[in-house]
Amino acid sequence: MSELVVEAKGLSKNYGQLRALADVDLAVPKGSIFGFIGPNGAGKSTAFLILATLLTPSSGWARVCGYSPSEQPKEVRRRMGYMPDVMGVYENITVAEYLEFHAATYKIPREEWPALVDGLLELVDLDVKRATIVDDLSRGMKQRLSLARALVHDPELLILDEPASGLDPRARIELRSLLTQLQQMGKTILISSHILAELQQMCDSIGVIEAGRLLAAGPPNEILAGMGVGRSVQVRFAGGQQEEFPVSSDAEQQALLRKLVMDETRPVMEFTTVHRDLEDLFLQITEGIVQ
Ligand SMILES: Nc1ncnc2c1ncn2[C@@H]1O[C@H](COP(=O)(O)OP(=O)(O)OP(=O)(O)O)[C@@H](O)[C@H]1O
Ligand SMILES: [Mg+2]
Repeated sequence: MSELVVEAKGLSKNYGQLRALADVDLAVPKGSIFGFIGPNGAGKSTAFLILATLLTPSSGWARVCGYSPSEQPKEVRRRMGYMPDVMGVYENITVAEYLEFHAATYKIPREEWPALVDGLLELVDLDVKRATIVDDLSRGMKQRLSLARALVHDPELLILDEPASGLDPRARIELRSLLTQLQQMGKTILISSHILAELQQMCDSIGVIEAGRLLAAGPPNEILAGMGVGRSVQVRFAGGQQEEFPVSSDAEQQALLRKLVMDETRPVMEFTTVHRDLEDLFLQITEGIVQ
């Protein structure tokens, strides 16, 4: 079995009466990209904060790179880079100084800073802004700087809380290719997003989370197939009546079409294949749960 970089069992977090995270199990193998999908308030950031050592769970346990985030935070922080959903305020510090500051907190030798900062700024395409005051960056640029910060100590695991939010379309595509590149370097990545199609393309496995509960987890295609929402055939009969038939394989679709076309009692006028994506899946499995 492949090595698990992130593992959790029964992970829960209560804020007073509110159960923000309820019995979440996770198993993320080394070198994979795992995506959390869920609406506002689902518990994504709460889960990430726990894994990133910044919040103690109410119950359950987690292992990150083999260590407990709540009991061995230093070991975890050494191996994990966290990008929060919002960047703090840093007055009068330039982009380059910001990265140097974080290099210093990770005790990276000073003589390594110039090459490190150059490499990171190039990676996130911010080299032209190296002398700009951090607070004067645009939102998307702050996101990119925050990603560079998470990479300062070359961690084996990246936890990225909505890294694509605020990015323009081009920067989103670049982020995706950057994350794929980091994956090829052997890094494991946890990412959260509302942009479902984006996760579907990039993630080896996804977890659908709603009201603190993990409703489904696994490879995107398996989840879609398991929910029976992967594919269907939409048929329009003579007289205008329409019907949708779910199918799970090519063979099933061929058999269905043969049967429909041969049925003289209901002449078929038109048919088309409908592919469901995560957007539909998400709406389907969260239906009725939102209060
Ligand atoms: N410090 C806190 N004190 C009390 N309640 C909190 C706290 N942080 C989060 N919550 C609550 O916990 C629930 C989960 O919040 P969380 O931030 O984890 O959601 P999320 O999935 O990250 O949402 P979003 O997509 O908006 O970022 C919400 O109901 C939120 O109001
Ligand atoms: Mg959040």
